[in-house]
Amino acid sequence: MIHSDVSPFRWDEAQRLLILLDQLALPETERYVPLNTVAEVAHAITQMLVRGAPAIGITAAFGMYYSARDHWKEDDKRARIAADKNRLAETRPTAVNLFWALERMMKTVDAHLHDETPDAILAEAHQIWREDIAMNQAMAIHGADAIGQVPNILTHCNAGALATGGLGTALGVIREIHERQKNASPLHVWVDETRPYLQGARLTAWELMKDGIDCTLITDNMSAYLMQQKLVDAIIVGADRIAANGDTANKIGTYALAVLAKYHHIPFYVAAPDSTFDPTLASGDQIVIEERSGDEVVLVKGKRIAPEGVKTRHPAFDVTPHSLITGIITPSGILRPKA
Ligand code: MRU
Repeated sequence: MIHSDVSPFRWDEAQRLLILLDQLALPETERYVPLNTVAEVAHAITQMLVRGAPAIGITAAFGMYYSARDHWKEDDKRARIAADKNRLAETRPTAVNLFWALERMMKTVDAHLHDETPDAILAEAHQIWREDIAMNQAMAIHGADAIGQVPNILTHCNAGALATGGLGTALGVIREIHERQKNASPLHVWVDETRPYLQGARLTAWELMKDGIDCTLITDNMSAYLMQQKLVDAIIVGADRIAANGDTANKIGTYALAVLAKYHHIPFYVAAPDSTFDPTLASGDQIVIEERSGDEVVLVKGKRIAPEGVKTRHPAFDVTPHSLITGIITPSGILRPKA
């Protein structure tokens, strides 16, 4: 079984604290930030110290434990925990894993409302984390089986260990492919820098290099040229929410890649755990797309790169229609949305 030392958080059982790797400080600094309250968890998600759909869900689950811990002896504890759940739900709108984890944690609260301690709530947060690790492992195998041996894969954003509880979704598959062919014909990965937040440049390149996987960083506007030059054999990305018909929301720029992939006859795969599927939405046009601050467009690491006062837009995600997706890699196998 493959493994990665990279993780967005660790649990300190002695202090009962979630210790977060601050993803805003990467790649320069590996800084760890303890989270101990619902407010700190909400802040960390909104400010993107932790990001990536499954990692957000797991972090919020521990936030629900903090809420239960802080209110367990109060008469109106259910109402107070429900209020904290609403607060956590307001942090980011697109990744459904957040809402999925919060609902599951609230059900656990209801099932254990009369327990002496909130230990069952903490156990459920750990269970969500454990399940994510297992789903990443299963996707890695299914994805590597489906894609087979390839020289060059392109990925966008960070759908890696940093974005999940385990190996990563897209990067879990990449890790498995790397492992299978490293002695014969080593895999090479094209990493989109992923403007404006630079998850590819700051996080994916860091993660792949840490695990010794050969990669090359490109700016987002270079991928079409590389496809035209036949230097991309497959594309694999993660997902933040998948509607019932297979339409998939992922980091802004994903849709453009899928269109390019179709034109160049390159297989385009999405890897996602069960917690990313939203069967309540019939199609992708119903997915709420997060609009983030224009400051993130005009400032790079705090330095202004555009004229003061210029108008900006910052949709953080886009939706790829299912007709452009070759396969969705899930823990139970490959879904073929076109079919
Ligand atoms: O804004 P982010 O960094 O949270 O967006 C992350 C992505 O879009 C990832 O591709 C997605 O969450 C899948 S992570 C396994």
